[in-house]
Amino acid sequence: MTSAPGLVFDSVEKSYGSSRTAVKALTRFSLTVAEGEFVAVLGPSGCGKSTALRVAAGLEPLDSGAVSVAGESPARLIREGGLGVAFQDNALLPWLTVAANIELPYRLTGRPVDRGRVAELIALVGLSDFAASRPSQLSGGMRQRVSIARSLVLSPRVLLLDEPFGALDAVTRHRLNTELARILDAERSTTLLVTHSVEEAVFLADRVVVMTGRPGRVKLETSIPFGRGRTKEIQTSGAFLAIVAELTAALDADDADVAA
Ligand SMILES: Nc1ncnc2c1ncn2[C@@H]1O[C@H](COP(=O)(O)OP(=O)(O)O)[C@@H](O)[C@H]1O
Ligand SMILES: [Mg+2]
Repeated sequence: MTSAPGLVFDSVEKSYGSSRTAVKALTRFSLTVAEGEFVAVLGPSGCGKSTALRVAAGLEPLDSGAVSVAGESPARLIREGGLGVAFQDNALLPWLTVAANIELPYRLTGRPVDRGRVAELIALVGLSDFAASRPSQLSGGMRQRVSIARSLVLSPRVLLLDEPFGALDAVTRHRLNTELARILDAERSTTLLVTHSVEEAVFLADRVVVMTGRPGRVKLETSIPFGRGRTKEIQTSGAFLAIVAELTAALDADDADVAA
C-alpha cells in the first residue's frame, strides 16, 4: 500500500437545513483512505454515514472543511469516469435493460462500451439470464446487484458503496462479498464501504472505522490484520471473532447517543 491519498475528508462540517432548524450530520469528520485501501465504515443509524459518502461523491455542499478524491475534486473525478458509486437508492433507469444500465458510465463519459467487461460483471453479480430484463422485472436485491456492477464497470480509482448488500439474502451476500473481495484485490480501487454488518466490514476491509452518533465523526479505527484474498473460513477464526466483538462493543457504547 502506498501513502498517496486516495480519499481525504479534512475536518468536514455538514448540516442540513437553515440555521435555526439545522440538523448537524457531520462534525470534525476527518478520515484518510490510502490509495488502493479498502475502508469500511460502521456507525449507529442516522449518524451521517450516507452523508459522508454523498459528500465524497460531490452530491452535498460542505459547511466547512474539504474533501478530495484521488487528489481531485469529486466533480472532476466523476467527469473523468474515475469515481464509482453504488448507493442505497440505486438509481437505475427504468426504460433501459440491465446491460444498458451497466453500460451507462461509458456513455456518460463518452467512451466506447467494452461489452466483454459488461458481460463479465453481469456474470459476476449472477444476472447473466437477466441482461435483457428491465429493472421493474427484477427483485430489490437484483437491482442492487446491477448497481454494484455499474459502479465497477469503468474500474474506478475510487469506489463508494453505501450498504450495497443491504437487501440481499445471506447466501447471495456472502457470495458477492467473496467475489467483490477478489475483484477489488485485482483492481485496487480505493474503496469506502458503509455497512451495518460488522462481520462484512471485518471480512472485506483493510481498516474499519466506527463513527459516533450524530453528528458523526470518527470514534475508533482498527486495522484488520488479515491479508487480501480472504476466504470464508477466516470468519470462524478466533482472531476474526475477537475483532468483531471489539467493534460491536464500540458500536454499542454509542447507544445513548443514537439520534435516529
Ligand atoms: N436531505 C436531508 N435533509 C435533512 N436532513 C437529512 C438529509 N439527509 C440526512 N439527513 C439527516 O442527517 C442525519 C444523518 O443522515 P445519514 O447520513 O443518512 O445517516 P446514516 O446513513 O448514518 O443513517 C440524520 O439525522 C438524517 O435525518
Ligand atoms: Mg445511510
